[in-house]
Amino acid sequence: MNFTEPKPTIKAFSLKPQDFGEDFEFGVSTAAYQIEGAHSIHDKGASIWDTFTSKKGAIFKNHHGQITCDFYNKYEEDILLMQSMNIRNFRFSLAWSRIIPNGFGAVSKSGIDYYNKVIDFCLKCGITPWVTLYHWDLPQALQDKGGWTNRDIVNWFENYVQVCAQHFGDRVKHWMVLNEPMVFTGAGYFLGVHAPGDKGLKNLLPAIHHAVLCQGIGGRVLRKLLPDAQIGTTFSCSQITPYRNTPRDILAAKKADALLNRLFIEPILGLGYPTEHVPVLKRIEHYINPEDENNMVFDFDFIGVQNYTREMVKHHWFVPYLRAKIVPASKRKVKSTLMDWEVFPPSIYNMIKQFNQYEGVKKIIITENGAAFPDTLINGEVNDTDRKHYLQAHLEQVHKAKKEGANVDGYFVWTFTDNFEWAEGYRTRFGLVYTDFKTQERIVKSSGKWYQSFLGNQ
Ligand code: NOJ
Repeated sequence: MNFTEPKPTIKAFSLKPQDFGEDFEFGVSTAAYQIEGAHSIHDKGASIWDTFTSKKGAIFKNHHGQITCDFYNKYEEDILLMQSMNIRNFRFSLAWSRIIPNGFGAVSKSGIDYYNKVIDFCLKCGITPWVTLYHWDLPQALQDKGGWTNRDIVNWFENYVQVCAQHFGDRVKHWMVLNEPMVFTGAGYFLGVHAPGDKGLKNLLPAIHHAVLCQGIGGRVLRKLLPDAQIGTTFSCSQITPYRNTPRDILAAKKADALLNRLFIEPILGLGYPTEHVPVLKRIEHYINPEDENNMVFDFDFIGVQNYTREMVKHHWFVPYLRAKIVPASKRKVKSTLMDWEVFPPSIYNMIKQFNQYEGVKKIIITENGAAFPDTLINGEVNDTDRKHYLQAHLEQVHKAKKEGANVDGYFVWTFTDNFEWAEGYRTRFGLVYTDFKTQERIVKSSGKWYQSFLGNQ
């Protein structure tokens, strides 16, 4: 891990979309539970996020996604706004429990109709839909049977992917199988801070292995049913820097890198789990069946890289298994976002380089990048200069990687409208567009106006 240190950017942002090459796609990213609302309309089943948010104290101020941005009812308005902002690629996810209310078995006609309408409206507006199959909202009925810890999820997921491919595959040509498996397994099945709120290695390890299998199986189902589709899956990743230049901190950084950046991509590429730095991962072997080795591998058309920050890591005796600990941005007195994530644009460059080095990675798409800053609405305007600078600085780093030959061909801002930010509820706003959650009014922020003019400048 030899990383480039930041140089302050003083010059004005001058890049144009065409500087990234003809095939480069720009867009925005969202996820079903974070924007749709309509959590129990028609025959929609509950998801683990419906259940988790109803537990007192689980989420900041007990916020939930029952209504959120009401995208379910406002999709036409939002997609038209996207179109007016020159956005031509829209990444959204399908809510499994809207399509198959119990996770397995009967398919909901109203769920299928709804996503058909969204997809058709995108296409009518000249916007390409990029569909994520799983962005964390597992049907509660499946969680009642163990969720990601139950090996049967492989069959449930295979069936769900088939249903989606059969109903939407004639028009959707860009698919992502999973969103950030490290986060939904780590936060949901080990730390207990995300749905379903489970803890401990006995939950984490099977959840990891089953998610890895589902990545591969989801990819294979799509390839078989939709041979002309572009198939990807997405990973959270952050440059890891040792806090001090000591052997212990350097080792701690290697462990964090194995866990946060390598754990899910390496088995897909046939490299197995990165156990050399995190020996506890060897215990995953208990969950591996002989035929799994092949099923874990899949030749994805693209890898979605999702980057927001870098992490500084130090050795720490009291952290079990890892002996490594993240030093938060607030403790380091560096510029940070409302998530307490350091603003460090070279991280995206270094992550593109790191992922690009894998032989089996054919193409990288930045499927998420963005920031939460304290936005204020003054006289009907949100002047979010910090967010604009954040996005520009990250785009410059993506461009630099591309110029140096990295195969990166897309960039999606997280996110379009302010929405439900998981454990943080509505405290942290990431949108290019401000959402007034009382009136559901949308107000394009100055970052959104800048993105609009950047994209229009072709
Ligand atoms: C990653 C997740 O995919 C998305 O759901 C989340 O809102 C953003 N990062 C920001 O935390």
